[in-house]
Amino acid sequence: MALLDGKKLAKSIRKDVREGAQDFAKRWGRPPTLDVVIVGEDPASQIYVRNKERACLKAGLISHTHRLSADLSQSDLIELVRNLNIDEAVDGVIVQLPLPEHIDPDVVIRAIGPIKDVDGFHPINLGHLFAGRPGLIPCTPLACMRLLDMAEVDLKGKNAVVVGRSMTVGKPMAMMLLERHATVTVCHSRTEKLAHVVAEADVVIAAVGQAELIKGEWIKRGAVVIDVGINRLEDGALVGDVEFDTASARASWITPVPGGVGPMTVACLISNTLEAAKKRVA
Ligand code: GUN
Repeated sequence: MALLDGKKLAKSIRKDVREGAQDFAKRWGRPPTLDVVIVGEDPASQIYVRNKERACLKAGLISHTHRLSADLSQSDLIELVRNLNIDEAVDGVIVQLPLPEHIDPDVVIRAIGPIKDVDGFHPINLGHLFAGRPGLIPCTPLACMRLLDMAEVDLKGKNAVVVGRSMTVGKPMAMMLLERHATVTVCHSRTEKLAHVVAEADVVIAAVGQAELIKGEWIKRGAVVIDVGINRLEDGALVGDVEFDTASARASWITPVPGGVGPMTVACLISNTLEAAKKRVA
């Protein structure tokens, strides 16, 4: 078994982004710029947003964070997003999820200009992805794909099983794997005989958000396992969606939790921001 080191790959992506950002700044008089909008006090979101700010700083990108009160109206949030869309000095816009109950996240995501949608959540960008055309790709599945590429996993004709069907991870991941000629199965919490489906997989992408749902003994010998899950157990320990110790005894490559997909996701966000900036001035 070999570990897919997300921290190491994220560092190398940050270095590439830093160089790209310097070139951009030389040419256009300012570094690429990401605006992050956060509404309310969700503690996990506060940590994620801080990580995004830190990643921008490290890579030489400008970041602005708009910290707004939980009672902000949906129309005021949309007005802010529209102002960011037309601000020439802003390249990427993300609205941190989840939003308070009274705000419909779909409406807010659709208000983000697709060329600045560095989360890749706008239906236009998802549509490009589903059609196999270039566009901004959601950061977490992009992170998984970059980890598979680091391990030089040949996906062509292989059985890839995605566990989880979210709009942000499972569905776009399935499309990306299809684009690379894998045979893709998408499973979820209601899938019958999940163990049997996973046992056929050459590549497993676990993104269900349930601690150690996928047992090590289900993993085919030599399979590649990418674990998107970050779950906190009662004793405070962080675990993925896959039982790591038993799975790592069978897998050829596996991502640790933490230190696998997590650090890569933010690296992909700043990489998307640089790409969006370059495309806007092209
Ligand atoms: N909340 C949890 N993950 C994400 C993400 O990738 N983007 C946004 N906007 N919100 C999130």
